[in-house]
Amino acid sequence: MNLKESIESVRSSFRTDSDPFPKDQQSAEDLRIKYMGRKGLVSDLFTSMKDVTPENRPLAGKLLNELKQEISSFFNSKIDSSVSGKSNNGESDYTLPGLEFPVGHTHPIQQTMEDIKSIFMNIGFSVAYGPEIDDDFHNFSALNFPPEHPARDMQDTFFIDPETVLRTHTSNVQIHLMEEQDPPLRYIVPGRVYRNEAISFKSYCLFHQVEGLYVDKHVSFADQKGILEYFVKRMFGANTKMRFRPSFFPFTEPSAEVDIWSENRGQWLEILGCGMVDPEVFKSVDFNPDVWHGFAFGMGIERICMLKYGIDDIRLLYQGDMRFLEQF
Ligand code: PHE
Repeated sequence: MNLKESIESVRSSFRTDSDPFPKDQQSAEDLRIKYMGRKGLVSDLFTSMKDVTPENRPLAGKLLNELKQEISSFFNSKIDSSVSGKSNNGESDYTLPGLEFPVGHTHPIQQTMEDIKSIFMNIGFSVAYGPEIDDDFHNFSALNFPPEHPARDMQDTFFIDPETVLRTHTSNVQIHLMEEQDPPLRYIVPGRVYRNEAISFKSYCLFHQVEGLYVDKHVSFADQKGILEYFVKRMFGANTKMRFRPSFFPFTEPSAEVDIWSENRGQWLEILGCGMVDPEVFKSVDFNPDVWHGFAFGMGIERICMLKYGIDDIRLLYQGDMRFLEQF
């Protein structure tokens, strides 16, 4: 049999073998290897080109290339139609729905932060940011934490050097804002904070807060109550029960913590700390405490996120497990 006949016989056996085209992937791949593999029938034909006489070689080469072309475009068309989900003789079916691309979404912490931001922006607060690495002055001293005072022990601090810390709260930005701008000030400050705490279901070495600061001539505790009540009702629903409980922070006086009532757990849960800006804080940024009054608050975003979505372990928010994240 000369090469020309061999080419025709491979062509006709391929046409028989490939009709019907195998349905399962493995048999389709076996078929491809039988003809197009490195030791397949087409490759054998190329090998026997060496026995063809020089004057017949151009024609034999042309026929052989045509066969190879035919078989490989046949497989390509099968791949195309299996990608579009349907075998249709190599033609595209434009009525098929498009391929779905997986679309990501924001992390629940980010979502909660955006919710909190938009509630406060609706009532005239602007958004500001500040440094996560800061000096003792902005994180502690200017906020009226006296040196060696036990108040500093309230927050377990990561020190970079004796004068530099990873901020333990977003309250450091209160000081930056008041150093940089004159009142009236009405800001919220979202950001990451760090505490050297044992990691457990309820605490992590880093978390997020949103700080609030409102400074003007006639700001009262009643304003603070009204604004935080508005926030809680928008965040957790109009029927949410909340209470202000007296508390202590070095940088506010009087101070309070806000709890909301959890029906599920049957208990009060703390969501934020707040208070009227302490006159000592105003003095540290050269604001006259007889003229300016203000309130500040700080809330933990993970806390709020966990309450809102019924998450019982803070570590879930930091593990990047898709089975968890895909639920949001
Ligand atoms: N900085 C406080 C904390 O991290 C929260 C707070 C902010 C309290 C502002 C009062 C005023 O716990």
